[in-house]
Amino acid sequence: MSVQKREIDEVTGVETTGHEWDGIKELNKPLPRWWLLTFYVTILWSIGYWVVYPAWPTMNGYTKGLFGYSQRTVLTEELAAARTAQAPFRAKLAAVPLDMIKDDPELLRFAMAEGGAAFQANCAACHGRGAQGFIGYPNLNDDEWLWGGTIAEIQQTISFGVRSDEKDTRASQMPRFGLDKLLPDAQINEVAEYVLSLSKQETDKAAADRGTKTFADQCASCHGDNGKGKQEQGAPDLTDSIWLYGGSKSAIVESIKTGRGGMMPAWAGRLDSVTIKSLAVYVHGLGGGK
Ligand code: HEC
Ligand code: HEC
Repeated sequence: MSVQKREIDEVTGVETTGHEWDGIKELNKPLPRWWLLTFYVTILWSIGYWVVYPAWPTMNGYTKGLFGYSQRTVLTEELAAARTAQAPFRAKLAAVPLDMIKDDPELLRFAMAEGGAAFQANCAACHGRGAQGFIGYPNLNDDEWLWGGTIAEIQQTISFGVRSDEKDTRASQMPRFGLDKLLPDAQINEVAEYVLSLSKQETDKAAADRGTKTFADQCASCHGDNGKGKQEQGAPDLTDSIWLYGGSKSAIVESIKTGRGGMMPAWAGRLDSVTIKSLAVYVHGLGGGK
């Protein structure tokens, strides 16, 4: 028996617990039946749950439960299902010639989605998430192409890279006119002034004129007589306002001295041919495709 004094509350006729605060007494009411029942049901539920689903850690793992449920299995099954759903599209993509993909809207949509995802995973680090490029890494949205903007040329660049260690790589390399002492600094300065004049920038007219001959002798074979560039050589157009490394005097001098020589890895062998095809479709579809 409790030492506390039990008494019956006069108003309700219910026994009190004996606790009292400033004249307010606590009634000894049982828990409502509905509440108690719910409480017991949740206990039963949890026991059932332990039996059926993975629950308790053990020495070397965990209790697997009767259903053998695992999120990893579910994910693997979902991935397999997704792959099965894609299989007909991938097979079709493999079969249809590159330049005919655009004629099949459904296939084109699939290739753009595949290519877009592969781009974010493999290419965005260098070319930017929107393929806008950075200094030394070309913008793939515009219609200026170093190596060609047809879908086949784009596929070739992606497959074999630029100055990569793949044997079919695009390999042309601008000479390092300064580093290898092919031209004295004064002559580099003059031809740089001439390059500035090609894109209608402010130049030292006299120096630019003296640079004209150097350009014809040393540069035109790759950049063209008019400076408009040659895609067989990967040599950029020097007459427009799109620059891979920059159009300021100092950036141009640096390009002439070092030859730059940007590198793009080859993807053949690393990505399967259907993914590379999708990437070509995607890059071509960004806006600048020819
Ligand atoms: C490690 C950096 C790097 C990664 C990763 C990379 N690229 Fe490039 N990419 C370059 C560079 C640098 C160039 C320019 C090469 C040059 O100077 O000619 C280039 C050039 C290109 C070109 C040629 C552009 C033109 O104007 O002709 C295409 C197309 C291209 N990349 C697509 C891709 C795709 C698609 C991927 C992903 C599968 C990718 N790149 C991943 C660095 C990269
Ligand atoms: C063998 C071919 C070749 C020759 C010769 C050559 N270039 Fe280039 N040039 C290139 C290539 C290829 C690139 C692109 C480099 C890269 O992508 O990394 C380039 C890039 C440049 C750039 C940078 C353009 C930009 O968009 O940032 C300038 C400037 C340039 N060349 C000027 C010259 C001048 C001036 C000469 C002559 C003194 C010359 N080049 C000779 C192939 C050549």
